[in-house]
Amino acid sequence: MCGIVGYIGTHKARPILINGLLKLEYRGYDSAGISTIENGKISCLKNKGRVKELENMNGVSSLEGTVGIAHTRWATHGKPSSTNAHPHLDNSKTFSVVHNGIIENYNELRNFLTSAGYKFFSETDTEVIPNLVHYYYTKEDENTPDKFAHAVRKATLDLKGSYAIEVLCSLEPDKIIVARKDSPLVIGINENEKYIASDIPAILEYTNNIYILNDGDLAKLTKNNIVFYDTSFNVINKSPEIISWDAKAADKNGYDDFMLKEIYEQPTAIRETIGTRLVSGKKCDFSDLNISKEYLSGISNIYIVACGTAMHAGLAVKPIFERLISVPVTVDIASEFRYRDPLIDEKTLIICISQSGETADTLAALKNAKSMGCKTIAVSNVIGSSITREADFTIYTHAGPEIAVASTKAYTSQITILSLLAIHFAEVLELDENEMLQNLKDEILELPSKASIALENTDLIKSFAKKIYKEKDLFFIGRGTDYAAAMEASLKLKEISYIHSDAYQSGELKHGPIALIEDNVTVIGIITDRRLVEKSVSNLQEVITRGAKTLIVTNQNLDKKIFPNIVTIPQVHPLLSPVISIIPLQLLSYYVSKEKGLDVDKPRNLAKSVTVE
Ligand code: AGP
Repeated sequence: MCGIVGYIGTHKARPILINGLLKLEYRGYDSAGISTIENGKISCLKNKGRVKELENMNGVSSLEGTVGIAHTRWATHGKPSSTNAHPHLDNSKTFSVVHNGIIENYNELRNFLTSAGYKFFSETDTEVIPNLVHYYYTKEDENTPDKFAHAVRKATLDLKGSYAIEVLCSLEPDKIIVARKDSPLVIGINENEKYIASDIPAILEYTNNIYILNDGDLAKLTKNNIVFYDTSFNVINKSPEIISWDAKAADKNGYDDFMLKEIYEQPTAIRETIGTRLVSGKKCDFSDLNISKEYLSGISNIYIVACGTAMHAGLAVKPIFERLISVPVTVDIASEFRYRDPLIDEKTLIICISQSGETADTLAALKNAKSMGCKTIAVSNVIGSSITREADFTIYTHAGPEIAVASTKAYTSQITILSLLAIHFAEVLELDENEMLQNLKDEILELPSKASIALENTDLIKSFAKKIYKEKDLFFIGRGTDYAAAMEASLKLKEISYIHSDAYQSGELKHGPIALIEDNVTVIGIITDRRLVEKSVSNLQEVITRGAKTLIVTNQNLDKKIFPNIVTIPQVHPLLSPVISIIPLQLLSYYVSKEKGLDVDKPRNLAKSVTVE
């Protein structure tokens, strides 16, 4: 959703800020803005539309300051417009603020400030922040050291909701104050230069030496120094982390789109995610988690909680957990889980999956589960993200930065790591399934090369995309883990091609959905489980008889006369098959979107990281 960038140092801030905003475009936004300080005066330029339009706006090129903040806004309170875009200034134009998150009590604060004489010009919740900072600043004693930082701290204590903020002050032009609660914020450091961002990729080309702020942290940045404070304004010590992502990983690297690049990165992402967790002939290594046999034998159920694609990864791994450790697994959508009373207690293990680690609903679900005494495991791709900080245990996927809004390599990496975790649990529990576990481990080690094979022949996918790109509705069907992959394939198509599609369990068609099948409707079937081939083929024949045209993704020998469009993928254990069967269908969505001339990486209305409910 919204993106934040900031810079204080010895170079002009403007190009660094614009570059950072361009790197954050993937988060999804509708307007952009920038503030810098020149000769003790704040300049602020903002506009509805793309960062490129901001860059070309009158006046932007003359911003010379070496201190600045910038923002891409995804509208929540008030329509996309230049007035509602960030930064927002206080009435005296002394303070400039950018903000990610939602201030839930902004009406109350607005009324308070209005009665104190402040005026408001935008429809946003954010505009209360610079005015509140001004209110407290003017109340501070003339001689208070750190008057600016104090005023920001006091203002944040009045805010309810979520925020990551950057604040400039024209009276203390050599500083930026930042603070966070429930919205991510990081600070990168070089000698004489500090970089701020909501997401690491925005500043990775300048430094990989990065502080990750915790909830409640406030930081005062000058070009040479950072001081961190807690909510009571006590100084706290923090250490930076070295981020191992390569800056190039956040570039397109010759591909037309990030999504295509990320689809093709899957063999590497899966290999990196397996890493040293699995070495041929050995047990899976999750010793960092330190989960005991005693704890595992005591759990009565597992809840996998997540949103969107991450939730689909949960559906894909439910069978492997249930098969290997005989514990019932419920896969739940985080936004539902958090508002009902799930049957969980201290015997429930909660696994939250989130590529970004910042999804508001998943984070809230995790906090709810913890408060009910459950142990929690976070599976995330982003080091230090909020979900990883909140969970009892964290497991990272090593997919590298995923920039395209439509998640691809994160999904296959999540299934890979969770399958390894299921095996690890079975090994810890000593359930005497050695042959099956060994077989699965061998198969997991082969996933990277099988993913490469699945990426090889794309001609049929491309030609089928040309056939279907004008369609309004289509169907994905499968059984077992093929149904889980069908759900994800359907979401991918919706997200980037805006074609409506549904996924059904093949056996469920007859109970209603088959009424929708008529001449020329497209049905895409996935068949990877040898035991279910005949059943799945019968279901597909039923739709063909009713006029459907089909595309089949399979590793079985099917009759070409019945199924003219077959995408063959490598043989893979049915419990792991979504890792491979999704690949041609990710490509299909990609090519359909390209045929329609759409923006693959930044589909309409969507944001990469959904940090509000
Ligand atoms: C994936 O293509 C989607 N953009 C979306 O469903 C995403 O998976 C979901 O918002 C969850 O994100 P997370 O993994 O960062 O929590």
